[in-house]
Amino acid sequence: MTRRPPVAAACLAALAAAAGCTHRAAVPAPAPASLAAALRGAFLVGAAVNEGVFSGRDTAGAALVAAQFNSVTPENALKWESLHPGRGRYDFAAADRYVAFGERHGMFVVGHTLVWHNQTPSWVFEDTTGHPVSRDTLVARLRDHILTVVGRYRGRVAGWDVVNEAVADDGSLRRTPWLSIVGEDYPVLAFRFAHEADPAAQLYYNDYSLENAPKRAGAIALVRRLLAAGVPVAGVGLQEHDRLDWPAAADVDTTIAAFAALGVKVMVTELDVDVLPRAVRQTGADVTLAAAARPELNPWPAALPDSVQQQLARRYAELFGVFLRHRGQVSRVTFWGVTDRDSWKNDWPVRGRTNYPLLFDREGRPKPAFDAVIAAADAARPGF
Ligand code: XIL
Repeated sequence: MTRRPPVAAACLAALAAAAGCTHRAAVPAPAPASLAAALRGAFLVGAAVNEGVFSGRDTAGAALVAAQFNSVTPENALKWESLHPGRGRYDFAAADRYVAFGERHGMFVVGHTLVWHNQTPSWVFEDTTGHPVSRDTLVARLRDHILTVVGRYRGRVAGWDVVNEAVADDGSLRRTPWLSIVGEDYPVLAFRFAHEADPAAQLYYNDYSLENAPKRAGAIALVRRLLAAGVPVAGVGLQEHDRLDWPAAADVDTTIAAFAALGVKVMVTELDVDVLPRAVRQTGADVTLAAAARPELNPWPAALPDSVQQQLARRYAELFGVFLRHRGQVSRVTFWGVTDRDSWKNDWPVRGRTNYPLLFDREGRPKPAFDAVIAAADAARPGF
């Protein structure tokens, strides 16, 4: 049996011969491209990681994260309910492993999140009889939580999502127990406590659907108020839980520019692209939304048709085109998950669907969308 060189190697050999190169050594297989390498000099590129990745259980996932990314965000491990499930009871086991994982791989380690209305146990807002606590009590609890958590990882967690999703769709402050019990200054207090706990940490405001004009205006007003109060807001996180057709690239562009104009860093903090049929009218990422499962909402349980795969690749190229154009303003782009298998989009807002929102498939193999991101970086690279 004659062994023929693969087509690519044959072409390379032909090219070398044409160029007068007689060197015959085998051409080593190119190392798989890495997002971190392709985007180095433009911005950091991160992934939200779950316990499987940082506990060592998911070795393939951990290896993929180490090879591809230079920043991590904890998908759930640093939320209030994970860290501080009961009054006076902290549990740092998972969080410690998360931070150690990020350090071991030399990553920019993000903390997510200190103040949110979701994944915060009800005891936080209640006294022992179940009634709402006073402002003073809730401020004291907030201060204790932030000083304890940020203080524990002082100098190790480089940036914190201090306040998450405080603005409602109409731009007003969202009606949450934080607002009704503490009042409008709770974001100011949260940032002050975080700064007190770690003066060197970058402190961020993080939210979704900021491409919607009323909500964007509300978030801009909030950041302005914080800056006017002397609060050190280092950056704003645009979550970017996107769809194939939403938001328009032009609106992402406008949104990045609008926040950058405030003089703060802009980060894309939770990027994914939902390819499944819309199950709820709202765009965005309200984690409390839920819709009933119906077969027509889960059209591709076995595999993504090639046409949609290509559409996803084009969408990622478009989004990275925008991020790369703003590379002086965007400091990090983080994906919300690593592979399609572990994406929250398989269960939100409908449980048990098969979604395909990320760059790596269920086996951790790069998808055409991955190649599209690398190509977008290559095309922009002469500039960074
Ligand atoms: C999601 C996680 O991915 C899920 O595992 C969890 O059940 C709910 O929260 N906005 C945020 C993230 O800021 O913390 C949310 O993460 C997704 C929406």
